[in-house]
Amino acid sequence: MSERHAKTSRAAIALVLALTATGALAASAAETAIATRQAGYKKMGGAFKAINEELKKASPDMKLIAANSAVVNTQAQQIPKWFPKGSGSEAGFKTKAKPAIWTEPAKFAAAGGALQAEAGKLQTFAAAGNLDAVKTQVRAVGGTCKSCHDAYRAED
Ligand code: HEC
Repeated sequence: MSERHAKTSRAAIALVLALTATGALAASAAETAIATRQAGYKKMGGAFKAINEELKKASPDMKLIAANSAVVNTQAQQIPKWFPKGSGSEAGFKTKAKPAIWTEPAKFAAAGGALQAEAGKLQTFAAAGNLDAVKTQVRAVGGTCKSCHDAYRAED
């Protein structure tokens, strides 16, 4: 093999190794992103459920509602970080995130923004101990969950 040839094949081998490494990294990054957002949504769902359960009681515990509202709000603020490109079903891991999330990013960002705005208000009303406002606001928050799920989360 000529020196030139050897250089070319070394370069080719290096390229293949680099591509393999990138591919492996991308897959594990996608897996991590999916696991992170599913855990975040689970946390958010649990907190939101706890609020709704509390509101069914004769005298709801406002401290518990406030704490869970803070959890919903904190998780909602993370949504923009939860959907890196390549973390859809094409990554080969189980996810209900629909491709539209990445094909219409502005609309998806708006759906996340709607929850953030309503969750922020819920946290404020709950912290102030305003039960009537909390009851109304919980419905507003729930509406933003539903409209994002209808558009961007696949059915079972
Ligand atoms: C901006 C869009 C959006 C909003 C707003 C949103 N979700 Fe979701 N949610 C999703 C998507 C997409 C998934 C699927 C994630 C996946 O499978 O990778 C999901 C998944 C979930 C899951 C299942 C998590 C799991 O895998 O176990 C729960 C629970 C959930 N959301 C609750 C909520 C609640 C409660 C709200 C409102 C307080 C909410 N979501 C608001 C988009 C949204």
